[in-house]
Amino acid sequence: MKSTDTTKNTFAITTPLYYVNDLPHVGSAYTTIAVDAVARFQRLRGKSVLMVTGTDEHGQKIQRTAESLGRSPQAHCDLVVPGFESLWQQLDIKYDRFIRTTARRHEYIVKEFFQRAWDAGDIYLSRQQGWYCVSCEEFKEERELLPRNRCPIHASKEVEWRDEENYFFRLSRYQEQLLALYAERPDFIAPESRRNEVLSFVNSGLQDFSISRVNVEWGLPVPTDPNHTIYVWFDALLGYVTALLDPDSDPTLENALSKWWPVDLHAIGKDILRFHAVYWPAMLMSAGLPVPGRIFAHGFLTKDGKKMGKTEGNILDPVALVNKYGPDAVRYYFLKEIEFGQDGDFSETRFINILNAELANDLGNLLNRTLNMARKYCGGRVPNVAVENISGDNILKEMSRDLGDRVADFYEELAFSKACETVLTLVRAGNKFIDDRAPWSLYKQGQLESVEQVLYSVLESVRLASYLLAPIIPNISSAIYRQLGFSIDFNDKVAVDNLGNFATQSVWGVLPAQQVLGEVQPVFKRLELLETLPS
Ligand code: MSP
Repeated sequence: MKSTDTTKNTFAITTPLYYVNDLPHVGSAYTTIAVDAVARFQRLRGKSVLMVTGTDEHGQKIQRTAESLGRSPQAHCDLVVPGFESLWQQLDIKYDRFIRTTARRHEYIVKEFFQRAWDAGDIYLSRQQGWYCVSCEEFKEERELLPRNRCPIHASKEVEWRDEENYFFRLSRYQEQLLALYAERPDFIAPESRRNEVLSFVNSGLQDFSISRVNVEWGLPVPTDPNHTIYVWFDALLGYVTALLDPDSDPTLENALSKWWPVDLHAIGKDILRFHAVYWPAMLMSAGLPVPGRIFAHGFLTKDGKKMGKTEGNILDPVALVNKYGPDAVRYYFLKEIEFGQDGDFSETRFINILNAELANDLGNLLNRTLNMARKYCGGRVPNVAVENISGDNILKEMSRDLGDRVADFYEELAFSKACETVLTLVRAGNKFIDDRAPWSLYKQGQLESVEQVLYSVLESVRLASYLLAPIIPNISSAIYRQLGFSIDFNDKVAVDNLGNFATQSVWGVLPAQQVLGEVQPVFKRLELLETLPS
């Protein structure tokens, strides 16, 4: 599955817009790390990239949370939002736009969009009766509920009965068009299992859904009837559009859609798939707008094998995690250890074992010992070797031949774990190569040319590995590059743009002979399990 249009030079990607009822959850950190890695990869590829994230601030859930804390909803949102921004900074998330749905300009976009759907005849007033989960901000079918009227996603919460006049969106009208979209673009929804879920939902018949509320003040007014506020999901999805406005342009749909729409990818969790893969494209069709490129729904994280939840008291705090272990460790664990698309588990013991084995030992030690040998045997410079003279049967050269392309395909598919695993095969081969060739003995035997070839091969393989992993572990990759004598910070977008394109950097043989090597330092310190994180 390769779905990004590789001929297009722009790439826009979004995280969900997170609810601000509480501080950021590890689930929000998970999607955001993945989206940041894709954005970074596309930048390495030479694309002009826009990464969007932000917060979803209206609706009953936020209104109630604010009330319970004795704050106005706006004051509550203003207090919580900086917690997201600072976590993203700690995790080295390099977003380009941060949209808050309470931004004034968003209201104009929602109003204009509502009008389009209204003019298309897709909005009408009717009566809504049903069970509502405030935590999901979604009506539930009676058959979905757990015993004692509990929401299947928020088992500790009872759903609430609603019976009121609402404006409805004519979703039923779009069933055929949606099915045609899924058929024409088989990769519109990924992974496959999620696509099948959506297909069976849509095939079973679509019902119109209500897009206004009468008893929720904390929302945008319905333009045609100010007694109603707009349903939070209708408002939030449009945040993706408002985010595309240039900071100084007028808030019109035309301006918002001029450069980056349709976005290439919405990455979300599996619980909000229906909104993105069914409601959202139908809303866009109603407004006469193109639908997004792709929707990828990832799985859920559990902790020590158990579902995370406040009632279970086992919520993993992303701030504590990054404070304790640093950004690269957290980014690597989530993307390498959990197959994106599947559910996955966090265990602190496993976290430490993986990082020590793969980043400290396999990668870090390989660089460290090779650099020390280069200091000793080659005067602190990259060995003086012409890459063309390294024989084609050199295992590292051989393995690297199409490595960049293979890893790139995995990034395109959001198969981060496979991308890391593929890079690790080269790193592990580097360790074996150095053990087998034993440059220290070659040196004693006076075979200087062989020593240089071995050390060059390993150093170049470490460079290539760190380049390919830079979207995931930007700080470690920058440190490796520095020690190899380059000066690049993979967190600096301009520097990355100027590095040279992916096709030239992702091949073997880039490391310039005789480049002065940097100071040797461990790139990743071994972790110890001192005490486990508080839950
Ligand atoms: N506000 C909506 C999204 C609107 S997008 C226009 C929302 N927000 S949320 O804050 O509740 O959830 C944000 C994301 O976190 C969702 O993609 C959800 O799947 C994800 N996660 C919440 N708990 C999670 C786990 N335990 N594990 C992984 N991700 C989970 O929904």
